[in-house]
Amino acid sequence: MVSYASALVTGASSGIGRSLAWRLAAQGADLTVVARRGELLEELAEDVRKRFRVRVEVLAADLTVAEELSTVAERLADPERPVELLVNNAGAGSRPPRPLVDQPLEYEEGKVALNVLAPLRLTHAALSAMVPRRHGGILNVSSIAGFLPQPQGATYAATKAFLTSLTETVHCEARGHGVHVTVLCPGFVRRGAAAPVGGTRSVRLPEFVWLDREEVAREALEAVAAGKPVCVPGAGYRAVLAASRILPRSLSRRGFERLWAR
Ligand SMILES: NC(=O)c1ccc[n+]([C@@H]2O[C@H](COP(=O)([O-])OP(=O)(O)OC[C@H]3O[C@@H](n4cnc5c(N)ncnc54)[C@H](OP(=O)(O)O)[C@@H]3O)[C@@H](O)[C@H]2O)c1
Repeated sequence: MVSYASALVTGASSGIGRSLAWRLAAQGADLTVVARRGELLEELAEDVRKRFRVRVEVLAADLTVAEELSTVAERLADPERPVELLVNNAGAGSRPPRPLVDQPLEYEEGKVALNVLAPLRLTHAALSAMVPRRHGGILNVSSIAGFLPQPQGATYAATKAFLTSLTETVHCEARGHGVHVTVLCPGFVRRGAAAPVGGTRSVRLPEFVWLDREEVAREALEAVAAGKPVCVPGAGYRAVLAASRILPRSLSRRGFERLWAR
């Protein structure tokens, strides 16, 4: 089992990222927390410091703005304050879900900036610092959408397919250098009160499909500790994924067309 004394978590102001940050602090890791809403990060930092007596640094940044992304990359490169685990969690879904032709192009490009370019840049920065130290971990938060077609969420699914593929490949490249790289691919996760309105929270789906974000965070950090390449939380989702790999692609496509038409 690998453990990390410090972690930088993007998208820590709400949802899965907040749960991951909290659990890492509970394991004794000093944190650097990143998101746009600095006030929510300050609240989290105060709670975490009191509860777990770890150091917490707040870095308010919009990862789609080049200079602000550079600040986060520079933080990862700082040899004086090494970050042992990078968690690329910040991401944007399809709000509201719509066919690509009906989405404003700038909105779709923003998703590519946040879900693809930012984790790519930060993964590169983290690897550049971790490989010479021969110690480190990276957890990239992707989605099960990266494996399957997602009508009304085309760009989202494509960005997550990129992130899953990138991460699985980098896992193979980095393993021999003492750096463990994991991709987390959850299904539908309840997003919590601080999450922006829309996206998966507004999709009408049966109760059983929803994952609890604490459970997702727990499974993710177990996979990180075990140095696993891919983590798909929830036995139901693992079964769906296995079935989708056996079934003809045309059948999976039709199934997902029906699901998203609900
Ligand atoms: N919820 C699901 O069903 C689900 C399923 C599969 C995968 N995921 C993935 O899980 C990750 C977390 O999602 P979530 O469901 O927990 O959503 P969430 O509650 O909306 O959290 C998203 C986080 O990303 C941050 N963020 C958004 N835009 C940002 C930007 N431009 N710069 C910096 N930070 C930004 C948000 O903070 P600020 O608004 O303060 O910036 C927030 O902390 C995402 O990558 C998502 O794709 C979610």
